[in-house]
Amino acid sequence: MAFSEVNIHSVVDLVVTTLDAKDPTTFEHSYRVAELTEWLADAMNLPRSRREALHIAAHLHDIGKVGVSDPVLNKVGPLSEDEKLQLQSHSVIGFNILNRLPSLARLARFVRHHHERWDGLGYPDGLAGESISLESRIIALADSLDAMTSNRPYRYRKTYEWALQEVQDHAGSQFCPKCVEILLSRKAELKILLYHSRQQAQERHNAYVGHEELMHSRRVATQDGFLEEAPSTWLSESA
Ligand SMILES: [Fe+2]
Ligand SMILES: [Fe+2]
Repeated sequence: MAFSEVNIHSVVDLVVTTLDAKDPTTFEHSYRVAELTEWLADAMNLPRSRREALHIAAHLHDIGKVGVSDPVLNKVGPLSEDEKLQLQSHSVIGFNILNRLPSLARLARFVRHHHERWDGLGYPDGLAGESISLESRIIALADSLDAMTSNRPYRYRKTYEWALQEVQDHAGSQFCPKCVEILLSRKAELKILLYHSRQQAQERHNAYVGHEELMHSRRVATQDGFLEEAPSTWLSESA
């Protein structure tokens, strides 16, 4: 095959697999965010070409974390101001990586703005309202929802109900109100999606095919103090 025939999806898969090798936790998070954004885009009836771009951007939204040092990335406990800035730089680093390829330039902007907030208090550019692309607003919502419902080195995940309340409380400040309205109108469907995407993400570590034990030891080593999964009654909670 000539290099000119390499499919963009193959390039994206290669980059996502690189992220998995560096940071399996972020890889799993990104997988779930991609599933969530796809579902939200579908609920919004976005055309197929936009849904496809959004899905890829969601898989790559935290790719800039490859440029953040492991001690900062895996720190258990509060970050210093300098460490916060280092961590926040991932959205611009991700933009700079993806913007190298002209066919990914649009996605690069979605990634750059996935930590902007509806009220203009986000980063890196302090955009507000509809000056933030709809794609970035969708990723921001899916990103926060997944972060709240996932374990972190310093805390157990929140319940599904708690996370939805948080999303509702911050509609119009942190989150796009229209995106939140659509998400909350399909709560039961969302809960099942969150559960299944969690399981699927754990099975997709292509960087470790044939070296599963390495992935396991790495995850343990880099997450000193990581809390074990809480006994989960998650799916049996009321929707
Ligand atoms: Fe991020
Ligand atoms: Fe994220």
